[in-house]
Amino acid sequence: MVFTPVLSRNWGDADSFTLEGYRRHRGYQALDKALGMPPDEIIALVKESGLRGRGGAGFPTGLKWGFIPQGTEGQAAKPHYLVVNADESEPGTCKDTPLMLANPHVLIEGVIIASYAIRAKHAFIYLRGEELHVLRRLQHAVAEAAAAGLLGELQIVVHAGAGAYICGEETALLDSLEGHRGQPRLRPPFPATHGLYASPTVVNNVESIASVPSILLGGAAWFSAMGTEKSKGYTLYSLSGHVKRPGQYEAPLGITLRELLDLSGGMREGHELKFWTPGGSSTPLLTAEHLDVPLDYEAVAAAGSMLGTKALQCFDETTCVVRCVLRWTQFYAHESCGKCTPCREGTYWMVQILTRLEAGTATEADLVTLLDTCDNIFGRAFCALADGAVSPIVSGVQLFRQEFMDHIAGGCPFDHRRSTVYADQLSGAGA
Ligand SMILES: Cc1cc2nc3c(=O)[nH]c(=O)nc-3n(C[C@H](O)[C@H](O)[C@H](O)COP(=O)(O)O)c2cc1C
Ligand code: SF4
Repeated sequence: MVFTPVLSRNWGDADSFTLEGYRRHRGYQALDKALGMPPDEIIALVKESGLRGRGGAGFPTGLKWGFIPQGTEGQAAKPHYLVVNADESEPGTCKDTPLMLANPHVLIEGVIIASYAIRAKHAFIYLRGEELHVLRRLQHAVAEAAAAGLLGELQIVVHAGAGAYICGEETALLDSLEGHRGQPRLRPPFPATHGLYASPTVVNNVESIASVPSILLGGAAWFSAMGTEKSKGYTLYSLSGHVKRPGQYEAPLGITLRELLDLSGGMREGHELKFWTPGGSSTPLLTAEHLDVPLDYEAVAAAGSMLGTKALQCFDETTCVVRCVLRWTQFYAHESCGKCTPCREGTYWMVQILTRLEAGTATEADLVTLLDTCDNIFGRAFCALADGAVSPIVSGVQLFRQEFMDHIAGGCPFDHRRSTVYADQLSGAGA
């Protein structure tokens, strides 16, 4: 498959993050084109391209922009806002941060175009506070764009959150941006009509917005010629774990993990793939049987999982699935915002049971209780964090029940040192 990278095309340049460096790669030419078009034509173009949100759910971007009420009455008369979701906190998900670091101007250009299309005069980029280096880079890029007169009337605020996974959920993000504790809001009403400050708001992922300039320049037909029937275009896949060359791989939707592993040198020497996540830790696990599943929204769903954020975490046969699932569950218990009972209490108890399982002190009844707890959480909590928390547990037990039973019978059979990156330097680890 031959593919010329778009989003990552200038990442190797020493000055890729500067205005000058970006301009060398046709930077801000899409903006010139966009400003010569009526806003609704841009929305129609993005719809026609088939671009779907890259934040996890795959909602059509142009359709979302089209929900913003336009006119002079009611909600439409209120200020419109664009909010870029740069929270990126899902374990394994690591595409937006390198994108913003290497090429912040492609995001800024997308922000200006999207704001023009939805008639927003204020745009916010909501980032995790710990990412000070990204914050500085974005602020620098916004200042460069402003000094070059590219923003017009638009104000872009780069906002640093305090660092919470739940603040990536779009309504919790809006609450946090308004200065409240970040907790999801009841819907309806939806952000399209009652978002930031109860005004019409589009919330889009970094990669979604950064894809817009290329659609303006290349056209809807160019973009939709890539990908599969219902999942169009190119995207960033993040490979991590026991692969030889982890990192970002830009490719059309529909590529398979087998092809991506070929590009990344494969699994580490002498080891084989045991299980993987297609889209971060909240998507059900898959195995080597699924190496040829096209990585698009439909095919991954048909295989029993979700494409999510395309964070492909690959684990080899040295990895204990019980330990791995426990670590993820500890994360979700820590990040549960506490608003609803199934998630707040359930994630706590799941950690207790998984801890016993890993320690070899659990019983078969514990395993039944664990699955029963998952069953009582899934679909019954206030937001999707809780559904994500049970996904690795349920799929882990479905795929590796015997491994859970072995832990009950005789404790953990794994030497965890063998799954570390320094395994081959340890004597007795038998890497
Ligand atoms: C717990 C949780 C965390 C989320 N974290 C993020 C995130 O960090 N970044 C993101 O873009 N979307 C995240 N989402 C999805 C957002 O709610 C929303 O769907 C997305 O920002 C919409 O953008 P898109 O249409 O461009 O994908 C999260 C959802 C949930 C339930
Ligand atoms: S599911 Fe969890 S994170 Fe979501 S609202 Fe309930 S307690 Fe908060």
